[in-house]
Amino acid sequence: MQDTDWASRDWTYGKILRDKVIVVTGCSSGIGRDTAKLVKQLGGDVIGVDRNKTEDYVDELYLADLSDRRTIKALVNALPGRIDGIANIAGVPPTAPADLVLKVNLVGLKYFTEMMIPKLNDNASIVNLASLAGFGWPNALEAIKASEHLAFEDVERFMHDHKISNEGGRSYFFSKEALVVWTMKNRWTWRDRGIRMNAVSPGPVETPILADFVKTLGARAEEDMSVNDRPGRPDDIAPVVCFMLSDMTHWFRGANLMLDGGMSSHIYQNMHQF
Ligand SMILES: NC(=O)c1ccc[n+]([C@@H]2O[C@H](COP(=O)([O-])OP(=O)(O)OC[C@H]3O[C@@H](n4cnc5c(N)ncnc54)[C@H](O)[C@@H]3O)[C@@H](O)[C@H]2O)c1
Repeated sequence: MQDTDWASRDWTYGKILRDKVIVVTGCSSGIGRDTAKLVKQLGGDVIGVDRNKTEDYVDELYLADLSDRRTIKALVNALPGRIDGIANIAGVPPTAPADLVLKVNLVGLKYFTEMMIPKLNDNASIVNLASLAGFGWPNALEAIKASEHLAFEDVERFMHDHKISNEGGRSYFFSKEALVVWTMKNRWTWRDRGIRMNAVSPGPVETPILADFVKTLGARAEEDMSVNDRPGRPDDIAPVVCFMLSDMTHWFRGANLMLDGGMSSHIYQNMHQF
């Protein structure tokens, strides 16, 4: 067996995203903002996408509403090519209207990503910000399968047919469950070009939308969060997103990394009594 020539690999010198061009959606706040900042620190260029303006940590900003098909199409046409990674971080909380939750967190994200594939360099990395809220995907498979080709125009009908409202945060939970499954389904879709897709699933993170979760889930949120020593912070999540965008992770495909201070292990332990 040959010795690994680590010295020939750029990332061992620290700038693990050197010269990479990364699209960060949701770059104006919270996890997306911190990720944009870290991408720059690690040597990359940031093309930010958000509905809100920001001047922080982006080399170029594209204002766009990711809940709207026509806007996404125009955005993709306007974006440059030769992109090395997409961090799909934009999202809305469970207190937003249920159809908007599905449009931004799922349908828009999928549409944007699929349209971007021709603009990606070979070996590009796509990272989807899912959530611990997607943990229960095995219990929602029927609706998830039915949502596979869900179009923007059909979201309201789909939600009616599958009894998905934002009661108890269901629309949000469903959006993340379906995103985790979509990520797994695409483990090899663009394998011939080396393009990979993975997900990162945080537990509760201190950003402007944390209060929305607590409001929606009430006592359940308090109880869930009380088992942990602290909520996450954007700087717990951004390094993992950047790692997934880097050349260190070519063999991560269709994975869903739980980043929750141990909460998912805690749930498993309670479920399986070990
Ligand atoms: N905060 C948490 O507890 C938590 C936990 C797990 C997963 N997440 C996920 O992390 C991601 C980032 O959330 P955050 O906590 O940083 O929230 P945030 O509200 O701080 O940031 C979300 C960003 O997305 C943008 N955005 C929302 N709707 C958009 C639209 N239609 N078009 C374009 N941009 C839009 C917002 O303007 C904002 O800049 C979301 O996908 C969220 O579901 C958050």
